[in-house]
Formats: sequence, structure tokens, C-alpha cells
Amino acid sequence: MAGTYAVILAGGKGERLWPATLARPKPLLPFGGNGRTLIRATYERVLPLVGAEGIYLVATGELAEALGAELGLPPEQLILEPYGKNTAPAVGLAALLLGARDPEGIMVVLPADHRIEDEEAFRRALRAAARAAEEGYLVTLGIRPTYPATGYGYIEGGEPLFTAEGYTVHRARRFVEKPDRATAEAYLSRGNFFWNSGIFIWRFSRILEEIERHLPGLAAGLARLREHIGEPSFAEAVRAAYAGAEGTSIDYGVMEKAERIATIPVSFGWSDLGDWHAIWEVSRKSPQGNAAANAELVARDAKGSLVFSLTRKRVGLLGVDGLAVVDAPGALLVARRDRAQEVREIARAFAAREHDWPELYRLDTGGMLGAIEGFPEQCREALERGRSAGLPAGLKGFTRICVVGMGGSAITGDLLGLALPGVEDITVRDYRVPDYIGEETLLIGASYSGNTEETLTAFLQGLGRTRRALGISSGGKLRDLCRERGIPWIGIPGGFQPRAALGHLLFTLLGALEGLGLRAEGLEEALDVLSRMAGELSPRVSPNRAQELAARLWRKIPVIYGATGTTAPIAFRWRTQINENAKQPAFSAELPELCHNEIVGYELAGELFPGIVRVFLRTSRDHPRVALRVEILRGVLRRRGLEFLELRGEGGGGLAQALSLLYLGDWTSAYLALLNGVDPTPVAPISELKDRLAREPWDPAAGP
Ligand code: F6R
Repeated sequence: MAGTYAVILAGGKGERLWPATLARPKPLLPFGGNGRTLIRATYERVLPLVGAEGIYLVATGELAEALGAELGLPPEQLILEPYGKNTAPAVGLAALLLGARDPEGIMVVLPADHRIEDEEAFRRALRAAARAAEEGYLVTLGIRPTYPATGYGYIEGGEPLFTAEGYTVHRARRFVEKPDRATAEAYLSRGNFFWNSGIFIWRFSRILEEIERHLPGLAAGLARLREHIGEPSFAEAVRAAYAGAEGTSIDYGVMEKAERIATIPVSFGWSDLGDWHAIWEVSRKSPQGNAAANAELVARDAKGSLVFSLTRKRVGLLGVDGLAVVDAPGALLVARRDRAQEVREIARAFAAREHDWPELYRLDTGGMLGAIEGFPEQCREALERGRSAGLPAGLKGFTRICVVGMGGSAITGDLLGLALPGVEDITVRDYRVPDYIGEETLLIGASYSGNTEETLTAFLQGLGRTRRALGISSGGKLRDLCRERGIPWIGIPGGFQPRAALGHLLFTLLGALEGLGLRAEGLEEALDVLSRMAGELSPRVSPNRAQELAARLWRKIPVIYGATGTTAPIAFRWRTQINENAKQPAFSAELPELCHNEIVGYELAGELFPGIVRVFLRTSRDHPRVALRVEILRGVLRRRGLEFLELRGEGGGGLAQALSLLYLGDWTSAYLALLNGVDPTPVAPISELKDRLAREPWDPAAGP
């Protein structure tokens, strides 16, 4: 027997609900009644009618995932669009897919973001509509107008067809576009004109037939798509079908021209919640007409206002009337409620203020962008230098490498461990080396300047424990010390910021260690990936992926998640690069450990620190259970409305994947600096601290 299916369409920018929709898609805003999101209210409203297996959602990838997570919908009930192209292609795609299984099935098309007060009355209307659909009608619920609205399309009702469930189904004479004020008034007085609710009911076979008749581009695409259903080629075929489809609404593309259309006049308290005025109307209000959602409101001599906060703010209103005050992370709206329709213009004005990258590049007076662009070349040059360094064979015979260093130099130690997985590797960022260090350890003092006191102190202490040691720096006290003591020292070019000399430090060491029999895997692949990325992410290509990422992190607190053994040091590098280049807070954490503590902090995160964005760094080398944990965490974050993004390493080898993520972070941090209005290069607080310490003499050889 033919079944009934609810197809929820989610799309639209929700521009008139700026700035809330900057932070959250409209269907995830909590205006569904009883604290529910709009999408959940939509879902629960049809659930008794079609059951959980009968509810499908059509949306683009990320939105579909977010809404699917909110509803707990299994992936097979998500219909993914390659991009939004108005409602006709979305309806066509869903009708094709579901109709392939049940051609005579009934499709109920529902927008994801409407509010309905009397849900039982709504379901009765749908039952009546389904009866008309069984008879081959294309049915629309027509809302009885309560005022001469100019913001909705209208349906003109014709003669009654039959009555069911207490509703009368009428033949629909025509669909009309949004009218002007005078026409709207005439419609209201005529009594047989209804607002087009955007809620449709029909058989799959009927709507496909009408698409065939009126939308040839979409119909042709759908016809070709049919043979790809259930095949791996499906997503690509949908993309092709969308490319040729008419980007029109189902109302305009089909309903205005179709045969056998019907409407059911209803009045069950419907609103499409199109703007802040509409939200105020459906909200619970104080006797003074003030409504507060997600905010603590104190109002004095204030009335008729809406206050909504996505950051749970305390809001005071004093002596004002009829306002909409809407607070989202990083943006605030204060508007007259009766001008809520015009909020769209504000949203568009902000959207038009695209970042003027060429202008921003001028902030980079220290040349950090150039240094980052030169990183792959720096690595190649350094590898050659290292290979010809000729370290003494006497250094051989160690089972552990211990790199002592700080900041931008210390990361070299972490990365050596990633590049040389066969050797135990530790990095010491301190004045002291661990007690267990002995002759089995190759001690490497790494300080770009050669003058960092912690590094010098720990290195000297380590020299008392092992004869296997070498130093690497651009000069400074480390060079002098090595020369005095006859310890191998490798010189690298000066003139960089230490953090921008990572290629010199790391690849020189990798090249030199080859002479001691240690060979990193996948070096060539890693270098190729880096060179390609340099071309893609350079300032000459704008906007590029790193710039887009920087824009997403802008004015936020990034928390970078890496996995122990693969991307944890990369996450740390992201954090420190954002700190030093972009001059702002950023944090990092490690999986799986963070699953045992950090995630509990999610509970109040949205309320206390809505500006946090979590960035997952992922590679194919992550432990499978760690990968599974990430999948689970994504759902947890989505359900809580917490922002995150995922980045995947490029290439096949572990080193290429790790370094590609690192390099993306370096670029992102520098672009973020520019968005923050600062030159990425200077690190004044570090220099100040070093100068201040220099006034208190310290002898690194004095011992702990
Ligand atoms: C500056 C930077 C710092 C330094 C750190 C140690 O660009 O990255 O973190 O690396 O202060 O100094 P060096 O590397 O000279 O031993």
C-alpha cells in the first residue's frame, strides 16, 4: 500500500533574522514553542502522521548533517543537495528518490522553519489534503489571512470539492505573486484568497508528471539521475542534474501552471517567522509586551520589545518601545520592530564588506607571508644542507633522541618524532633534562637564535649525561658553547623569526640524521604537497582556503584538536602560531585524552563562551578508535549547537598529512593576523620578557 512521507526542506539564508542566523541556521533557532528548535517542532508535528521512518530532510551537506543530528535522523533519511537552488529541484530530487520505491506514495512538503500553534488541527488538515492527493490533486494549505499581508503569495480558492476531517477542500483557481497593499486589501475583503503556506501535498507520480510538463531542465536531469540511485556515482549525478535544473520555486515553476490544483483553507496559528516582528508576535510577553528569549531581561518604562540573545546576556531596557534587540557572538542588532523587514538590508551590507585582502597585505611589513610562502623551498634547501653536514660516526649507537628547545625551535623535536617513528623521541621545554637521560640518548640543542637560556641550561646539563650531542642554531651562545667543547654544531641561515625558520631547523636535522642511519619516510611526498600548497595559499590567490579559514576563526577563540601520535604537535603549532602571528588567544588539546575531561566543559560552553570554535585536525593515520571518537564528538557538538570544523591532512603518507596541516595552520595564522589588523612578525611580549630576564644575569653552566 502507498505510504505517506514528510519531506522537510531546509534552505534559505534567514537574512531577516540577522544576526542570529550568522551563528545558527534558522531551523536551529529555539522558536518552535516549548523551547524546541524550529526543526524539531516541524519534525514532532508530523511524527504522529508518518512515523519516524517516514520523515526525510532535504538540505546541503553541512546543514543536512547539523539538522539530521538535531533530529537523530539516520543518514538514509537525509537527501543531500550539492547546493541550494530554490525549492523546485529539492522537491524533484526527493520525489524521484522516494517515488522510485513507492510511486503512488503521498509526499507532504514542509518548510523546516515554520511555527504552528494548533498541531492537531494541522495534522487533520494534512489528512484531508492526503485524500485530495489520492485523487490526483496537487494540494496547498492556504492560510486564512488575518491582515492584508504584502509579504506572501496568495492562492485564490474556487468551488468546494469535498469535506474531510472538518476541512473543506477547494479547487484552487490560481496562485498569485506577492501583491501590493491595495490588492492585498481587496484579497482580504473577498474572503477566498489565502496565503500560500509553502506546505504541499501530492503523489510522487503527480508532481514528477507536472515537473516533466513545466520544468524540462529539471525533468531531464532527474531522468538521467534515475539509473544512478543507490550507486556510488549518485552524488556526482545529482550535481549534474542540478547544473541543468531551473533554479525556481515549486510554486512558481509548477503550481502556477499545473492542472488539478486544490487548496484547503486553514487557520491553525501559522507563522513563517520571517522576521523579528513575527518572532515577537509568537513569543510569550510580559504585561508590558516585552519578550525575552535566552536572555535575562530587566525592563523599566519599556514596552513592546523583543530581546533575544544567543550568548545568554543580561539585557536592560530603559525608556524604549517597540525594539528588536538581538545579540549573537560578534554581532548585535538594535532595530525598530516595525521595520524588521529591512533587517535583510543590514545583513546584506555586512556581507558585502568582504575582506579587502590586497589592502590587508600591507600590514605584513615584517614579511611573514613571504617567509611562509618560502617554507617548502626552505625545507628542500635545509635537507641538502643537512645531508652534507657530515656528523661524526661516533654519535651513532643511541636509542633515544632528546631535543632541548623552546617555542618555535622546540616544535622541531616534536616533528622529528613524527618523521622518525622508529626512534624514541622526547622534547624538553625546560631548564632541566629528565634524570633518566644517559649515554643511550642523542641530545640535540635546538635554538634558532642560539641564546635561549632554558635551552642552553638544559643542554649543558644534558652534556653531563651523554657524549652523544649536537647543537643547531643560526649562531649565538649555543654555537660558541659547541665550539668550545668540540661538540658538533650545524649552522643555519639567520634573519628569520624562529617560528618561520622551522624548515631550516627540522629538515637540516632530518638530512643530518640520515648520515647516522635514520631515514624519514615520505620526505619527497611531503615536500611536493607543501610546494603545491604554497601555490594555492599564497597571497596572489585570493580568497584562498587559508583566508576563508582565517575568516571563520576571526574574533573567535580557536581550540585546536589533534590526536596523540599523529596531529597533537600540529595542533600545538597551530595554537602557538595563532598566538604569535595573530596575537590572540588560542588553545589546543589532544584526543583521546580530551574525551576524559575537556568534553564535560561543553555543557556550559555555549552559554559562557559562545565564541569558541573547535578545529579537528585529522589524518588517515589516526587510530581508528580516535576517528570513531571524532565522529561521536561531532554529533555531541552539533546537538549542543557548538561550532567546529574539520581539516584533513593532504597526501597519503603520515608526514605529508601532518606537514600539510601544519602549513595550512601557518598560513591561516598569518592571514588571521591581518584580519586582526596586526603585523604577523613582531612578538613584543616575548622580546620584553627576554630583555627583562637579561637584566638578572644567569649562568647556564651554573647547574640546576
Ligand atoms: C619567535 C618564536 C619564539 C622563539 C622562542 C625561543 O618567532 O617563535 O617562540 O622560538 O622564544 O627562541 P629560539 O628559537 O631563538 O631559541
